[in-house]
Amino acid sequence: MYSLSVLSVLAMLAAAGPFGLASPTAPRWEDMSAKHSWASLPDKWAHHGPPPDGTTIDLRVALKPHRETALIDALYEVSDPEHPKYGAHLSKEQVAELVAPHPDTLELVGSWLAHHRVPSSSLSITHGGGWLTLSRVPVVQANALLGASYQFYRHTETKEIVLRTMGYALPAALHRHVDTVAPTTYFGSPRALRQTSRLVPDGPTLPQGDLELQTASATSQRVPPSCNDVITPTCLRLLYKTASYVPRAVATNKLGIAGYLEEYASQSDLTKFATLFRVDALDARFSVVTVNGGINNQSDPGVEANLDIQYADSISYPTPNVYYSTGGSPPFKPDDQTPTNTNEPYLDWLGFILDQSTTVPQTISTSYGDDEQTVPRDYATSVCHLFARLGAMGVSVLFSSGDFGVGGGSCHTNDGTNRVRFVPAFPASCGFFFCCFFFLFFDKKCSRLTRWWLQGPFVTAVGGTFRVNPEVAASFSGGGFSNHFTRPDFQNVAVSAYLRGIDSKHHGLYNTSGRGYPDISAQSMNFQVVLAGTVINTAGTSCSAPTAAGVFSLLNDLLISRGKPPLGFLNPLIYSKAWTGFNDITSGSNPGCGTSGFSAVKGWDPVRNYVFRPCCYPAGVLMFSTQVTGFGTPDFTKLRDLCT
Ligand SMILES: *[C@@H]1O[C@H](CO)[C@@H](O)[C@H](O)[C@H]1NC(C)=O
Repeated sequence: MYSLSVLSVLAMLAAAGPFGLASPTAPRWEDMSAKHSWASLPDKWAHHGPPPDGTTIDLRVALKPHRETALIDALYEVSDPEHPKYGAHLSKEQVAELVAPHPDTLELVGSWLAHHRVPSSSLSITHGGGWLTLSRVPVVQANALLGASYQFYRHTETKEIVLRTMGYALPAALHRHVDTVAPTTYFGSPRALRQTSRLVPDGPTLPQGDLELQTASATSQRVPPSCNDVITPTCLRLLYKTASYVPRAVATNKLGIAGYLEEYASQSDLTKFATLFRVDALDARFSVVTVNGGINNQSDPGVEANLDIQYADSISYPTPNVYYSTGGSPPFKPDDQTPTNTNEPYLDWLGFILDQSTTVPQTISTSYGDDEQTVPRDYATSVCHLFARLGAMGVSVLFSSGDFGVGGGSCHTNDGTNRVRFVPAFPASCGFFFCCFFFLFFDKKCSRLTRWWLQGPFVTAVGGTFRVNPEVAASFSGGGFSNHFTRPDFQNVAVSAYLRGIDSKHHGLYNTSGRGYPDISAQSMNFQVVLAGTVINTAGTSCSAPTAAGVFSLLNDLLISRGKPPLGFLNPLIYSKAWTGFNDITSGSNPGCGTSGFSAVKGWDPVRNYVFRPCCYPAGVLMFSTQVTGFGTPDFTKLRDLCT
């Protein structure tokens, strides 16, 4: 097997030791060059002190795949509805083969580790292949390997302590072989991840009479006006037209919720939620999978976890739901030898899910995010590539687009220039920027350009709406343009033309050649959630992601029940064909950074032009028209006809 052979090569090299491999052409390992460093300490972090002697850290090394674009090519083949391989999703083994590093990469990395006397027993291949995990490396050794200076840093608000370095380097000879090493300069972590759910204090609650009316209307197929003020599963099932669909593939189809931050979903709260809001689903259940020391504390329900499970479950019922509780943040004791969180949440969770031997859920929702500028580009790209693997395996991954419009606070850049700039969210902005070079320079065929454009982000980002008839963009709905992930030059003309159209509004505040998000949206305000037995009122794009995931999970159910493959990575389908299955949102905007943000505008006409003239039409116009709510909110009955 692939992973065995890699391990044995590495083990052999490591066992041979520095003397066994002495050769005149051995690279000069002392010749280091910088990989990433910060100009100044990331916002809201303070230096806390040096780690005590004996502190260890687990290092994850992303090796460059031998065939750099093979996985992305495969992802687009299986996700493009016009491609003959559409739906032929890859197995875990096929993915491992596509992302396999070149033997030279393995040999070089192996001899580098041997040079530093890293024992072969501490090495393992992880994340479904192509990643090397070095377990319990002493910090002294990690500093030497990476030209780093690991220190403890403290988050000034959450008080979380992490072990990170302000910069790291690799031997010059390894730069072409290693994509990223983590944890190094990404200071985000489970505690610092922004939780995109927000409580609305004294928000509207539903009088009992109205509640009964809402429930009764489940059969009438009309969205009750009270859904303007209060959202329950009934509102969503009527609004997005799933109410009359009965899932059939419940033995195969699953819906996953990724949870972090010691957030636990409560079964008794779910049952109470069902008695209040979906009485035909009283036996609704979910299973819990713990990752990296995560626990399942049924006495400590969290708002985010309960929100996600209660809405995902009540829309997709009786589809089995899985809650992933990812750990990694024990309480910090300053004198402890093995303290604190040294891990990073997406990497832990992705490593776990990509190493599964059983089928992972076909639809997965995540309601956590971070400011993109706090995420180093090498790390962001490698993590996005892991989400792409999930897509290639047939998993639809949905993320909330964030809760701060075009950016929260005063919005200054952290690159040393301290300019005012919009702050996109990660991983909602997730993409893969290498491809632009490849397709621009090596393949000028229309089909490839179209495919390139369709790449967009590797996750489907979900923005927020509120009110009904019509729905309106929520002002906090995260949206904008990625600074990490770029569009190619050929789109810039179109973007400039559009900019002239809007009078160069917000000029200089965002990356005119960046990827746009969100892709779609869903309701995001006044969600009724049961927490510790009490009904509370919640808002945020945390509401939108599980709602949209519930709808797509039902589409997957329909496909699977007809013996077809699930939808997998959604964006190529949505952008080429299924966009007509969404309710366009034409009013509202997402102010932030002291500006009015982007506005939701009528988005269909540019899209229609795009579809008919794929390689000529300025796609930038489309992207600009959708910077608050994407293509809009899902209409299950239309999507059912478009996707099956
Ligand atoms: C579970 O939560 C309860 C309530 O917050 C707390 O008292 C208890 O210590 C927690 N148990 C564990 C194992 O964390």
